[in-house]
Amino acid sequence: MSEANNAPLELTEEEKALLNASCHGGAPAGPQVLEPNSNSKIKHVIGVVSGKGGVGKSLVTSLLASEANKRGYKVGILDADVTGPSIPKSFGYSDPLTGDETNVFPGQTPSGIKLISTNLMLPAEDVPVVWRGPVVSGVIKQFFNEVNWGELDYLFVDMPPGTSDVLLTVFQSLPVDGIITVSTPQDLVGMIVGKAVNVAQQMEVPVLGLVENMAYFTCPDCSKKHHIFGEPQGAVVAQHYQIPAHATLPIDPTFAALVDAGKIEEYDVAGALDPIIEQIEKVAAQ
Ligand SMILES: Nc1ncnc2c1ncn2[C@@H]1O[C@H](COP(=O)(O)OP(=O)(O)O)[C@@H](O)[C@H]1O
Ligand SMILES: [Mg+2]
Repeated sequence: MSEANNAPLELTEEEKALLNASCHGGAPAGPQVLEPNSNSKIKHVIGVVSGKGGVGKSLVTSLLASEANKRGYKVGILDADVTGPSIPKSFGYSDPLTGDETNVFPGQTPSGIKLISTNLMLPAEDVPVVWRGPVVSGVIKQFFNEVNWGELDYLFVDMPPGTSDVLLTVFQSLPVDGIITVSTPQDLVGMIVGKAVNVAQQMEVPVLGLVENMAYFTCPDCSKKHHIFGEPQGAVVAQHYQIPAHATLPIDPTFAALVDAGKIEEYDVAGALDPIIEQIEKVAAQ
């Protein structure tokens, strides 16, 4: 049995204080849920969350959006990782944002996925974004309510890493229908998934699925699966936190190559994300 089953579902004192400051009787107080731009018709907002950076949150956001787009849904991605934006690069998109007096227009990939990211506002990709939390929160809100998203079935939000106050602002300000949480096998045995789940529960947002990224590596010579970061834990952890779906993705150098080439849409996930997509489709059916 994994450590996750024995681990207490506790946030740090600092995180509890943040939640207490922002929650009132379980319902979000403070910032109101924002209305989108009057030209936007966004049916569902799905957040992609991880307890820490570098676990593949942006990769999973890109793959889920590509998969939903391939299934015929109208899809957008809001890159809420404002200080570490990486979404446009993985789609090979770099045109600066345009707008008029009442609209900011998102970028759009050739296959039709709409994108918004601080990357598209910077003079060069390598310019660092050094902004304080309130500024970051303000930018994320503007990405939602000042952008003319048009009609979308799903807006995927690549959430800020960790369980920071910026993450809480996103939960409070955007009408998030559900979240997908991303982890590596190593993090599953710790409290990292638990924290993300806990924040989502406090904000009364359902956790729709768990993606266990970098779960194994298939040897190209002998086709044997190696569990580089430890035995997969996804099924046990998903059950522990009552998450209705889990999926695994391998360590695959093709991911990094396609992200670098801006061609992530070409990756064939071969059904690996189907359990997660099914949960997202259920949200639409409700
Ligand atoms: N399963 C994987 N196999 C190979 N490389 C991966 C995998 N998942 C993520 N990466 C690479 O690891 C780096 C971090 O992933 P990223 O999605 O940016 O993480 P996060 O958004 O959580 O910070 C990227 O260069 C990405 O291409
Ligand atoms: Mg990222």
